[in-house]
Amino acid sequence: MMEGYYEKLLRCRDKAADLSGGFQPRLALILGSGLAPLAETMDVRAAVDYKDLPGFPVSTVPGHQGRYLFGYIGGVPVVCMQGRVHYYEGFDIHDVVLPTRVMGLLGAKTLFLTNAAGGLDPEMETPSLMVITDHIMINYPNPLIGPNLDELGPRFPDMSAVYDPTLRQTLHDTADSLSIPLTDGIYVQLTGPSFETPTEVRLLGRMGGSAVGMSTACEAVAARHMGLRVCGVSCITNKGAGIAQHALTHEEVVEAGNLMGERFSALVRAAIPAMDKIPL
Ligand code: HPA
Repeated sequence: MMEGYYEKLLRCRDKAADLSGGFQPRLALILGSGLAPLAETMDVRAAVDYKDLPGFPVSTVPGHQGRYLFGYIGGVPVVCMQGRVHYYEGFDIHDVVLPTRVMGLLGAKTLFLTNAAGGLDPEMETPSLMVITDHIMINYPNPLIGPNLDELGPRFPDMSAVYDPTLRQTLHDTADSLSIPLTDGIYVQLTGPSFETPTEVRLLGRMGGSAVGMSTACEAVAARHMGLRVCGVSCITNKGAGIAQHALTHEEVVEAGNLMGERFSALVRAAIPAMDKIPL
C-alpha cells in the first residue's frame, strides 16, 4: 500500500521545485476557506497546479482551488497551498498529508495552518479567530500508520507540543498590535463530511475541544513527524450543531469565512515576518 509512496513524494517535490523555478520557501502556509484575500496580496513568483504533479491528490470540493503559490509575504519566501485535500473526499490518509510533506521536502521549516471550524463552546463568538493550542485527533486515521518513513522522521514522534508556544505568542502579539480579537482553543478533527449531531457537539466540548473541523490536525502530525515548527489559526465560522438554532450548511461556513477574510489575512500577513525572525 505504501509501496512507492516515498518515491512519489520525491517526484512531486522535484517537479514542484522545477515548475517554481527552484524557489526556496522558508515557510509553508495552508489556506483554509475564506483566506483567498491573502493570496491576492502575496507577491507571487510562480503558481504550480496540483494536476501538473504526477500522482498528486487533486481536490473535488467546490470553492477549493488546487495549486501551490510560491512567492513572498512581508519579504519571507513562502509556499502556499491554495486548496487542500480532505479525507472525506475518499483519498487515502497518506495522500491527504502528501501536499504538506512536499512543502517540508521543498525546504519549508515552519508550517502555518488555517481552517474554518465550528465552535463547541456556547460562549464562543462567531465569526471569530482562534489560535490552536492543541488538538484531538482520535476517531480519525493517523497519517503515520503504515511502514515508518525513516527518511522523514521517527516511528513514534512526540506530540507534547505540536503547536509551537513561541509562534502562538507571536500570533497573539501580532493580533494585539492590529486590535484583532484572538482566543486560544483546542481543535478537534473529525472526518466529516456530515456536520456533527448536537450530541456529538456536546460530547466534543466535554472532551475538552473548543472547535471542530475536518482538516488540519493530520497535517500538523505529519509536519511534526518531519520536525517542522507548526502553528494554526481557526476561523470559527459557526456555532456547532445544536448550539446553532438552525441547520448548518457549507454555504454558511464559506460566507462567514469570507466575512472574516480581510481580518484573517491581515493577521497572517503581519505574523509571518515576525515568525520568520524567530530562530529555529
Ligand atoms: N463542523 C465541522 N467542520 C466545520 C464546521 C462545523 O460546524 N464549521 C466549519 N467547518
